[in-house]
Amino acid sequence: MDSPIWRPFTQMKTTPAPLPVKRAQGVWLELEDGRQILDGISSWWVTIHGHSHPALAAALYQQAQTLEHVIFAGFTHDPAETLAGKLLNHLPSPLSRVFFSDNGSTSVEVALKMAFQYWRNQGEHQRTTFLTFEGGYHGDTIGAMSIGAGSSWWQPFYPLMFETELVPFPATFDDDLNVETKEAQALEKIAHLLKTQSDRIIGIFIEPLVQGAGGMRMCRPQFLQQLQTLARQFNVLLIYDEVMTGFGRTGELFACLKSATQPDLICLSKGLSGGCLPLAVTVATEAIYQAFYSDDLAHTFYHGHSYTGNPLACATGVVSLELLEQNPEAYRQLETWHRQFLDRWLRDHPRLEHFRICGTIAAMEIKTDEASGYFNAIAPVLKAQFLAAGFLLRPLGNTLYIMPPYCITSTELESVYQVIHRILDR
Ligand SMILES: Cc1ncc(COP(=O)(O)O)c(C=O)c1O
Repeated sequence: MDSPIWRPFTQMKTTPAPLPVKRAQGVWLELEDGRQILDGISSWWVTIHGHSHPALAAALYQQAQTLEHVIFAGFTHDPAETLAGKLLNHLPSPLSRVFFSDNGSTSVEVALKMAFQYWRNQGEHQRTTFLTFEGGYHGDTIGAMSIGAGSSWWQPFYPLMFETELVPFPATFDDDLNVETKEAQALEKIAHLLKTQSDRIIGIFIEPLVQGAGGMRMCRPQFLQQLQTLARQFNVLLIYDEVMTGFGRTGELFACLKSATQPDLICLSKGLSGGCLPLAVTVATEAIYQAFYSDDLAHTFYHGHSYTGNPLACATGVVSLELLEQNPEAYRQLETWHRQFLDRWLRDHPRLEHFRICGTIAAMEIKTDEASGYFNAIAPVLKAQFLAAGFLLRPLGNTLYIMPPYCITSTELESVYQVIHRILDR
């Protein structure tokens, strides 16, 4: 029967019908027909502890029997308070105020609006522009699209989007001889923009260490440190979109910790609830919060959603964070395995280049005759072949990446490298 469902990021005419999933456990998805599929991308990067984790399921069950939801304006509850407190224990100390929302895009939207109003509340109405990076992806609401305007997905919406100052992202990879030149060029352009126009710049919006959907493009921590120096020097906000890089993805709990940098605003989602339920936060510094704290109602941050701070999602968030605290090795060890298996199975493959690894994420480019990028025709072909072999991998154009749940065993991870090797050899 034709399904009435219109699917996300899917050309409904040409994409094969979706596969019915019966259950999932750890890294494995079990289909209705009994097939087992290894989830090599953590189901769009959210499932950090593996599917159907018993501790998360128990937290959810318990919370559902106690308080499933309550309006978050004028009321509060323990799961949200505990989660906010626990998050702040791990984030750089200038970050001190937690604003809840429901998904990555809304956490970004909140950061955009907070940053914009932060300056306006202080009378700086001329600050209307964000500095953003080529290849950035921040979600698909209008504001989030605007700061990821480099993406060709958004073409139909260009007339609705606002402009930003787009600067190069110094994407690098193993044995990249030009990395310092790329960083210097990017920093020079940013410094020039800030020198000449800092009074109209609201802040710098970046996915720190790894640009996700733009093609798993990675930069060095040094670049972020220099970026922070410029942001401080020219008094603009530094805003980190850690929707994807948060909660251990980069091998540390957050990319800001790994790079020893301190953003003024940070957006978190995906792994926040352990991959169980939609949940996001935007965390702000005390200085930003204080710019809204006022007897003047016009200084209020008028933003919120029906499900803001949902107790079920927050309860899973608390337990997910505890799991990360109890076993940091789970996300730290993956980088060593990635390097080992990459060297063993793929490093010398003639069709692959630009290998890069950051914590739990490994990525590489497939050399093709077509132009590189998301619409490269190799992606759907490979995706289908991986699925037929029992692996969920979704190349971003000719960028191949592996981003598994942290519970993957070394044997399971090696099997991902083996299948890539086998299928590329065809
Ligand atoms: C860095 C980044 N920001 C924002 C988003 C948007 O998150 P969501 O899809 O939950 O709206 C994503 C999603 O992939 C992301 O990777």
